[in-house]
Parts: sequence; C-alpha cells; structure tokens
Amino acid sequence: MKYLAIVGTNADVSTNRMLLQFMQKHFVNDADIALCEIKALPAFYEPEDDNVPETVVELSEKIMEADGVILATPEYDHAIPAVLKSALEWISYTSQVLKDKPVLIVGASHGILGSSRAQAHLRQILDSPELAARIMPSSEFLLGKSQDAFDYAGKLKYPEKRAELNEVFREFLLFTKITSELLAEKAVINKDKKFTWQE
Ligand SMILES: Cc1cc2nc3c(=O)[nH]c(=O)nc-3n(C[C@H](O)[C@H](O)[C@H](O)COP(=O)(O)O)c2cc1C
Repeated sequence: MKYLAIVGTNADVSTNRMLLQFMQKHFVNDADIALCEIKALPAFYEPEDDNVPETVVELSEKIMEADGVILATPEYDHAIPAVLKSALEWISYTSQVLKDKPVLIVGASHGILGSSRAQAHLRQILDSPELAARIMPSSEFLLGKSQDAFDYAGKLKYPEKRAELNEVFREFLLFTKITSELLAEKAVINKDKKFTWQE
C-alpha cells in the first residue's frame, strides 16, 4: 500500500509530525508512507479565474496517486488547526480528490485527551459532500501528553500505545483493501451530480 501522511499543522516543531515519522519507520515493511506538509499552501480563497495555486495542484496529485491518506491533527481550541481546514477547503473547491479515498485519522495533543475533539471535528468535515472521504469507522488513535511521548530517536515510548497503533494500522491496511474492492464493484459513479446548494 502507498499512503500519503498529511501533517496537519504549520508548526516547525510538532508531535503530530513526529507521530507520522514514527509510523513511517515503524510500518516500513507493511506500507510505503510518504510525509506531506501543508504549510506552504496559501489560506483558502475562491480564485476569480481558474488559476489554482501550484502547491494545491501538487497536493491534489499526491492524494490522487495514494491508495489512502493518513491525517494527523493537532487540537487548537477543541478543533482542527486553521491550516488543515484551509487545505481541505482547497481540495473541496478544486480537485475533490478525497472523494472515496480511504482515510485514517490520528492525532497528538499536549492535553490528556489526545486531540479527541479535533478528530471528531475532522471526521465531520471529511464527511461533507465535496470531500466525502471513506473514513475508517470505529477507530481512533489518540496520543495525549504528546510532548513526552517520543524518545531522542523519535520512537514512541509507550508499549501500550505502540500496540494500539499496530492494531489500528493493521485494520487500516485491511480497510483500504476492502474499500478499493467495494468501489470497483460500484456500478455507476455519477460524476456530474450537482448538490442542491450548487444550483
Ligand atoms: C491557541 C492554542 C490552543 C490550543 N488548544 C488545545 C486544545 O484545545 N486541546 C489540546 O489538547 N491542546 C491544545 N493546545 C496545545 C497544543 O498546541 C495541542 O495540544 C496540539 O495538538 C499539539 O500538536 P503539535 O505538537 O503537533 O503541534 C493549544 C495550543 C494553542 C497554542
């Protein structure tokens, strides 16, 4: 499997980035995980012409080429960071390449709840009609107190959290495979469908 792991922040030092870097190494024999930054994307605006910023085109292409996407979100004021929301708005307004894409949500926060409220927020956003990602159900990976969670080599220190992550990732590999099979069976995909609010 080829996964794109999106770092949901513009912070230079981020425990969410560390989590994805750990996953990249830890699951190297199971999947090809490429990290992707969103900090160079401009804040979303509706372009007056059809010119989409190059950074947005590049992000869309990377998502399109991946079998699935892993999204790591921090939590700011009980929600996802504005930069992540903005990146998703670009995708929704332009390529819509997250439609039907298998997505795993993970997150790290300095608080004890491990970004649970931001993850719930992200799940709701990804379920909107023009993002419409295939979010892995009934699972979450919450890393609380994340400033203390990694050792000097970037390894996730807690054995119980590593075991939990192993289980979630194993399930995501299966979920990606099953979702691809389901979509291949889908008889008609009406790409021209317009939602009532667009008319
Ligand atoms: C403005 C602001 C709001 C924050 N709000 C939360 C919050 O609601 N919940 C939380 O756990 N941490 C909060 N934090 C602390 C961390 O930024 C947050 O835990 C974040 O998930 C850490 O992710 P990172 O290490 O990838 O930057 C907040 C920080 C700032 C600066």
